[in-house]
Amino acid sequence: MSDGYIHKYFLNNSQQYMQKWIHYLNIYEKHLERFRGKSPVMIEIGVFQGGSLKMWKDYLGETSKIVGIDIDPKCKKFEEEGIEIYIGNQSDPKLINQIFSNYPKIDIILDDGSHKMKDMRESFNLIYNHLSKEGVYLIEDTHTCYDKNYGGGYKDPNSFIEFAKNKVDELHAHHTNGLFKVSPFTCSTQSITYYDGIIVFEKKAQGTRNDLITEGMQETDMPYSIKSNFAVKRKDKKKFIEQKEMDEK
Ligand SMILES: C[S@@+](CC[C@H](N)C(=O)[O-])C[C@H]1O[C@@H](n2cnc3c(N)ncnc32)[C@H](O)[C@@H]1O
Repeated sequence: MSDGYIHKYFLNNSQQYMQKWIHYLNIYEKHLERFRGKSPVMIEIGVFQGGSLKMWKDYLGETSKIVGIDIDPKCKKFEEEGIEIYIGNQSDPKLINQIFSNYPKIDIILDDGSHKMKDMRESFNLIYNHLSKEGVYLIEDTHTCYDKNYGGGYKDPNSFIEFAKNKVDELHAHHTNGLFKVSPFTCSTQSITYYDGIIVFEKKAQGTRNDLITEGMQETDMPYSIKSNFAVKRKDKKKFIEQKEMDEK
């Protein structure tokens, strides 16, 4: 359960400048709470005045590592114990690979960078598969997806909202009759959550899909030896009941 830490920190901020939509704070607390005190590595794309990096450090705990990325070299000055800042473009593969080699396990990504469609997509494509097995990836200010100035637009195929909708299909690849290929994304993603302004991808290794039936025991139940180790399908059970009824006649 969240203790409202981020709300309290944000509203009483005595450190550097921070600007956040107030409804984002609940979303952060919902998705980041589980990492507190567990020494996570977090990357925030977009440092600006460094205020949010300090907040993440304070919230996630002493042993967390916060990595900032910003295109503006002036941001380097916000480095301090536990906060490292890389200067460069968020969609530069060389920069991202350099960060991966210094931080092989990354648990949290928050993209609060350019908010341009191309950068959002390219950063996601570069980073997502490297995120730890139970990591979380948040893309902030996705309302820019409706703004032509950011390369977006309603139902524009370049919009990150549309990109993420395709990811919803990829999440369901098993059920699309081959329309979508089961991909590393399908196998490693548990959920995609759309909020007003934020999209959250939660990773978790997925098991094989079994459509099991559970209900109260009945006299017509298949003997355990027949059920063996595979998942019982409805049609198997129906066949078994029909056979049993015929045998009893
Ligand atoms: C909205 S501000 C970040 C605010 C900060 N996260 C906070 O909450 O206080 C966006 C930042 O992204 C940086 N930025 C813009 N385009 C970028 C790009 N292509 N790559 C990396 N950083 C970029 C800007 O220099 C700016 O500092």
